[in-house]
Amino acid sequence: MKTIEEVRKDIKYQFPKNFWWGSSASATQTEGAADIDGKGKNIWDFWYEQEPSRFFNGVGPADTSQFYYRYKEDIRLMKEIGHNSFRLSISWSRLFPTGKGKVNSKAVEFYNNVINEMVEAGVEPFVNLYHFDMPMAMQNIGGWENREVVDAYVEYATTCFQLFGDRVKKWFTHNEPIVPVEGGYLYDFHYPNEVNFRKAVQVGYHTILSSAMAIQAYRELKQDGKIGIILNLTPSYPRSQHPADVKASEIADAFFNRSFLDPSVKGEFPAELVAILKEEGYMPVMEEGDLDLIKFNTVDLLGVNYYQPRRVKAKENIPNPDAPFMPDRYFDNYIMPGRKMNPHRGWEIYEKGVYDILINVKENYGNIECFISENGMGVEGEERFRDEEGIIQDDYRIEFIEEHLKWVHKAIQEGCNVKGYHLWTFMDNWSWTNAYKNRYGFVSVNLEKNAERTVKKSGRWFKLVSENNGF
Ligand code: BG6
Repeated sequence: MKTIEEVRKDIKYQFPKNFWWGSSASATQTEGAADIDGKGKNIWDFWYEQEPSRFFNGVGPADTSQFYYRYKEDIRLMKEIGHNSFRLSISWSRLFPTGKGKVNSKAVEFYNNVINEMVEAGVEPFVNLYHFDMPMAMQNIGGWENREVVDAYVEYATTCFQLFGDRVKKWFTHNEPIVPVEGGYLYDFHYPNEVNFRKAVQVGYHTILSSAMAIQAYRELKQDGKIGIILNLTPSYPRSQHPADVKASEIADAFFNRSFLDPSVKGEFPAELVAILKEEGYMPVMEEGDLDLIKFNTVDLLGVNYYQPRRVKAKENIPNPDAPFMPDRYFDNYIMPGRKMNPHRGWEIYEKGVYDILINVKENYGNIECFISENGMGVEGEERFRDEEGIIQDDYRIEFIEEHLKWVHKAIQEGCNVKGYHLWTFMDNWSWTNAYKNRYGFVSVNLEKNAERTVKKSGRWFKLVSENNGF
């Protein structure tokens, strides 16, 4: 590996001053301690009890990376590998064991400790309020389907602002809110494992409403920070410029990107999506005043998660009219010959996608302040890349990050308002039903050796990039 001096001499991609270098993670995926110190169950604790076999190697949410106990060591390592910022999430069911009502004082103590430790280390806490982890007590009354849960979420969010807002200046209402819609109500990879488009629409709608209401609550408190949302934007590319392919990709874009992007940034839903929902008879139940709430409480800051593109073609076959309604009634996924793959995860790698997203945000979303809030490369069986000194030689990850950063750099040169880059993720963590299958971290977590942490080669490399503000 190059020395700092060698790297410095050779910087081709210099990033703007005060660029946010760091990584992101979530509570349920890292904390462990799932059933102690008064934490209530969330849907993951419950589902794991019911169906442990759905989780890779049967590993459940109590056996995650133990951040609850080891946060000091982890924050020290963040600092050591050049983080000036890190995104965590608060576990709603740790703070409010039954979703609302009484606050768990042990949770307040834990999050205060974490935030203080980060501030002291010079690692700015970016705090997300919801990362797939509905408290079970709330799911029992319908989760996001039920408007009462929206009110409970706003109470939870307001409590977080009041408790931690003196030190936390970057808040996010949700991470990838379309994923619980897809996982829980369309494609069966999150609890409650339903396949029901009507519920999916209601869940999505209430999530957007909850975000606007939390933003309103935050602004009423007049804390001098910013509030945003984190969206997984998966650009849709048509197979060809044939109008049928183009139309199919526009519809996929409306369902999976603009459904959340438009209301979050512009305060309105995409007309194309609303037209389909009306025509098919799937409009959600709304209350008077909702649309104004959404219109007037848009985000200050947009987090962009980018992993892979979506390639789309016109439908090959006429859909079965008796099959349950699914968004793909309007398009087929397209496997592009010659695409570049991450063979360890089975996802396409298309680095330019990140640039296309940023240019779209610049041109069509008022060039709102944004940052790359997740990007990363999952690798199965990564232990095989550990060398004799115990370091994971993840050159493929370094290359992956570099190739994406080049496009981010180009977007900045062209005027995009991009403030930072966070890798998914800081240390290997528990990834929902995939558990510890795919490793993403700068720091490895050795499950065989009591979750021992060792910085990977990419972590060492990232330190240089951050110190030089470029590479
Ligand atoms: C992101 C999520 O979409 O993908 C993370 O925000 C998740 O929570 C990550 O861990 C990686 O997923 P996987 O399935 O490859 O382990």
